[in-house]
Parts: sequence; structure tokens; C-alpha cells
Amino acid sequence: MNQQEMDVFFSAHSFREDELRDKAVVIIDVLRATSTIVTALMNVARGVIPVEDMGEASKIAQNVDSDNYLLCGEKDGMKIEGYNLGNSPLEYTNEEVSGKTLIFNTTNGTKAIKKSLGSAVVYIASFLNENAVVEALRNEKRDVVLVCAGWKGRLAMEDSLLAGSIIHKSCGGTLPENARDGAKVAFGIYEKYGDDIGTVIRQSNHAIRLKNLVGTDDLYYCSQVDITDHLPILHDGIISVKHG
Ligand code: MLT
Repeated sequence: MNQQEMDVFFSAHSFREDELRDKAVVIIDVLRATSTIVTALMNVARGVIPVEDMGEASKIAQNVDSDNYLLCGEKDGMKIEGYNLGNSPLEYTNEEVSGKTLIFNTTNGTKAIKKSLGSAVVYIASFLNENAVVEALRNEKRDVVLVCAGWKGRLAMEDSLLAGSIIHKSCGGTLPENARDGAKVAFGIYEKYGDDIGTVIRQSNHAIRLKNLVGTDDLYYCSQVDITDHLPILHDGIISVKHG
């Protein structure tokens, strides 16, 4: 990373689609959408189709062969009635997802992805595959925007922390010259809280919400760093994997 601009948007609602045009975009939803996408592709899902809402999900599901497609996702953290899988990455085992295409619908994460369709390239980031994203950004020549999904328009600590960590690692530990305000804030969050990401994630607002709904297993799972070198990329509306 050198002269290009770098910015961070802190929620799926905090920007317009045209602000991502021609940029390299990194989508972050640590709890849990991007961690789940990375896990599904690690476990050899064929691809993931992000959708805006339940209406779009059922429209696609009605027109495909249900042997090869799974309807997946959550509303307000809970599995949606009639769906094959919810949004716990731990559900996305090889037995469940191998060879399948997932129609994936979540409260904030897939909305952020859908808003990035007009950008030059879209990388899917989680702590699980952080280094793969960092490596890609080191070679990136375009302006970069890290889009944190957040929660219903609000900042999410776990997403901001990963954004700051990615900037820190891809820029050799110094704030890039052309960092915009969002990148400076995320970088500062990483400098202050980056020593103990597991605790920061488990104490975040969304973690507390999730703990009450589904327990703590997902929180521990999503706090793992670099368990895979898979780099999911969005192409023609489908996310699939590029190996590191
Ligand atoms: C989202 O897209 O808002 C989430 O990933 C919520 C969740 O299931 O934890």
C-alpha cells in the first residue's frame, strides 16, 4: 500500500453505493456474517449468494434446484423459520455445505455486501482469514475502503477493531499518508485495543446480544486469527474463494 487513499465506513447504512465505485472494498462483519462466509468456503461450499432480504432470498430459492442450494441466514441474530441454516459459523460444516451454493441473508452483513456491487473488487474479511486480506491489500493499487457492517446503522467494536488491524498490518504498522478520517479512527482503535482481541470481541455490544440468544461458542470461534488463507471475493453477485 502506498499513495492510494484508505478509508473506513463504520456501518452498512453510513455510505452511498457510489462512494465505493472503482474502489477496492473489504467487507467486515466479524459477528458473524463474514466469519460464516469464510467458514462455509473453507468447508468447500461452492459459492455464497448474498441477498438484501427475505424476499430476494425466496425469489432465488424458488428458481433453483434445492438439492444444490441452501437457504441460510438470520434475522436479528436468530435462524429464519424454514431456512436450512442460521448464521452460526459452526453450523457450516463440510457435511452441510460441501458442493452447495448458499443463498445468504443477514441483518447487516449481506446488506453491506450488496451495496458494494459497483466497486472494482470486493474482499470478504474476518479475523479467521485476516492475513489473506492483508496480503491482497499490500498489492492493491486502487483506493481502499474497509466497510464495517456494524449493527443497524451503529458502529460495532469488533468490526472497527478488525478494520484497524488490517490497516496496521497492510501498511507496516504506520498510518498511511492518505488515510482518511475513518481509517485514522480504526487505526487508533487497533492501537488501543489490539492486544487482546478476544476480550474486546466478547465484551462488544453485539457479543452481549448474541450471548443471550445463542451462547458464547460463536464468539470464541470468530475471535481466532488466521486459521485459513482463503480469500473470498465477490464476482458477478457470487462470493467464491481464491486461495492464498
Ligand atoms: C449481521 O449480518 O448482522 C450478522 O452477521 C448478525 C449475526 O447473525 O450475528
